[in-house]
Amino acid sequence: MSPTPAPLPTDLAQGLALVGERLGLFGGDVLWYPDVGSTNDVAGVLAEHGAGEGVVVVAERQTAGRGRYGRVWASPAGAGLYLSVVLRPVRPAPLLTLAAGVAVAEGLLVSTGLQASLKWPNDVHLGERKVAGILAESTASHTILGVGINLRPAGYPPDVAARATSVEAELGRSVDRGLVLGACLCALTARYRDLQAGCAAAIVTAWRARAAATMGRRVEWESDGQRRQGTAEGIAEDGALLVRAESGLVRVLSGEVRWT
Ligand code: BTN
Repeated sequence: MSPTPAPLPTDLAQGLALVGERLGLFGGDVLWYPDVGSTNDVAGVLAEHGAGEGVVVVAERQTAGRGRYGRVWASPAGAGLYLSVVLRPVRPAPLLTLAAGVAVAEGLLVSTGLQASLKWPNDVHLGERKVAGILAESTASHTILGVGINLRPAGYPPDVAARATSVEAELGRSVDRGLVLGACLCALTARYRDLQAGCAAAIVTAWRARAAATMGRRVEWESDGQRRQGTAEGIAEDGALLVRAESGLVRVLSGEVRWT
């Protein structure tokens, strides 16, 4: 059974009201849940039952928040923004994750002044630490794009704590999560529009500008059961990571990449 949405908390409603029409695609249903397993699952069920493109699911807390490769996304109450949006499939699909990363970085800049950087394919960093992640899950009929943003320090598991940061930890002050939500959804609507309009180049250019620090770094990945290594050189127009390996320039599109 799906959980029941509750009225949107005032701070979030105010943040969304402030940006108004700039929410575009996401200006319709923003559904709030105090407690869910995963917002991606809730949005997926809604999409299967006919929810239209642009429906947004936001939760105070997730009990089964997940990241890529089945990792746990720690989602304590009030410590982060946990949201998922319903989209229809877009091509090239890898660019959607990149577009979302750019949008989150742009939303954070507008709402907090913080300059986030991006690490292929989906990590949003402040300095050396991860502040947000993106999980896109697709079926033939819809894509659920999930975004998790760490807003304030929380009791993360030790392995996560060493690599994670939060908006408030970096700012040294409290942050209005409604402003962050509004700004990120505005940026996401604009970047999704770029994708739909075939302006992949705009996304790739914006992504490259925010990922310069990771280029030239060593990466490891698996291909055909073999571990491979190389140096990240950039991304291609379709979002693939370009890695200089012994065999030449390799395109990495899927699978886990480890930055060393
Ligand atoms: C990653 O970096 O591995 C992706 C993390 C994505 C986390 C978000 S939180 C909202 C949505 N619901 C989930 O269960 N996961 C995504």
